[in-house]
Amino acid sequence: GLVERSGAAPAAAAPPAPVRLAGGTLTPFTVPLTVPQTLRPVLRTATTDYYSVTMHRRRLEILPGTRTEVYTYNGDLPGPTIRATSGRRVVVRQRNRLGMPTAVHLHGGATAPGDDGSGTATIPPGGERVYTYPNQQPHATLWMHDHTHHMEAEHLYRGLSSLYLLSDRTEAALPLPRGQFDVPLVLRDAHLDADAQLVWNMDDADNRTTLLVNGRPWPRFEVQARRYRFRLVNSSNLRFFLLQFADAAEITVIGSDGGLLEAPVTVPYVLLSPGERVEVVVDFSRYQPGTSVVLHNLMGPGPFEQVGSVMRFDVVPARGGGPQLGAAEAAYPAGAADADRTAHRRAAHGRVRHRAPGVHRRKVFDPARIDTTIAWGSTEEWTVTNGNVFMPHNFHMHLVQFRVLGRGDGPPDPTESGLKDTVVVWPGQPVRLRATFDTWRGVYPYHCHMVDHSAMGMMARMKIV
Ligand code: C2O
Ligand code: CU
Repeated sequence: GLVERSGAAPAAAAPPAPVRLAGGTLTPFTVPLTVPQTLRPVLRTATTDYYSVTMHRRRLEILPGTRTEVYTYNGDLPGPTIRATSGRRVVVRQRNRLGMPTAVHLHGGATAPGDDGSGTATIPPGGERVYTYPNQQPHATLWMHDHTHHMEAEHLYRGLSSLYLLSDRTEAALPLPRGQFDVPLVLRDAHLDADAQLVWNMDDADNRTTLLVNGRPWPRFEVQARRYRFRLVNSSNLRFFLLQFADAAEITVIGSDGGLLEAPVTVPYVLLSPGERVEVVVDFSRYQPGTSVVLHNLMGPGPFEQVGSVMRFDVVPARGGGPQLGAAEAAYPAGAADADRTAHRRAAHGRVRHRAPGVHRRKVFDPARIDTTIAWGSTEEWTVTNGNVFMPHNFHMHLVQFRVLGRGDGPPDPTESGLKDTVVVWPGQPVRLRATFDTWRGVYPYHCHMVDHSAMGMMARMKIV
């Protein structure tokens, strides 16, 4: 597995010390969590939802009483959420008022090459571009972020990311917490200077010690004593999150990058490398109202150092209304979510080609080079290795959702049993993946999603022909 699970000791619940920041102090868990707004379409037709987004700089309050300049989609950090439905097209007009070239990528989307945002075609300063997302794919928690060649790391760091929640009939039919009980938690870190301004230095992991959830530093979130669905997204450039409740309470993982798992998996902690999504259900009815429970990052605040705090949940009594509290949601039907996709894949494909891509070898990205060519319609198994002896990396493919077949000599972690587009690659532990290339033809990148690494060249390109 990814991490040794047996005998995991509950993390010592260190009392949260006020953090010295921007010439003042911030007591963790005093800033309320906010949830990104849902973006309203400017037009809806029988087949398509049209959206309009403007990228611009804004000075936002991140630390109380200060203003931090960030790059935004429509003025928000993270940007507003697009809610899409499989089979309905989304068209987004992106206007660039940032004064520098940008490009927008839908991470996890099966998008035509010209709309993938990952080529060298950018939106010039003052210009605009229309991206079309066909949504011919199953439900998943996707996200959008900047992908400007060589600039993606800085642009993402400065704020250019937002959620894209794709639903379908399968997902909508499941008795999962909905509405205010379905909460995205976008996790990231930042390096803020004494004036509360973002400091951008490539590969600066050690200094990015301010943790933000939905753009709020170490927030608190009032939860009713009932079940919640959390969509965890790691939008950090480099930081890994190994999340555990202070009381080591169990977490039910229901989904990964590409949608809901075939069956829920109960774990004591959850790992997210940059770019990954994990969906969980947490049952707060196990706590007395008045209880507070802190979520820790066992890999923070310094990378791979001591236990750090992420946020705090303050439990209040459950109020009536909606499907909640127990039985219905507990009956999460095994197999409902994943089965149709598996069947489709099996029917369509026979041939499997094996290859070991060079992305994690010492070969620097060249946007003029095609690193590998894939026949359209084929299914391939890739073995991804991390040649570093110390540093974990991860591996992200555009266009496809893949299956993790194994890690080293063992099986994948149960939490990565569903569809994935980004996967952790530990030193010395090759990861085997299987993907089918039966949607778009064209050129797409695959890369390490520790985006400081990809911006420095840890990226390659595949061509589907
Ligand atoms: Cu989320 Cu090529 O990236
Ligand atoms: Cu890397």
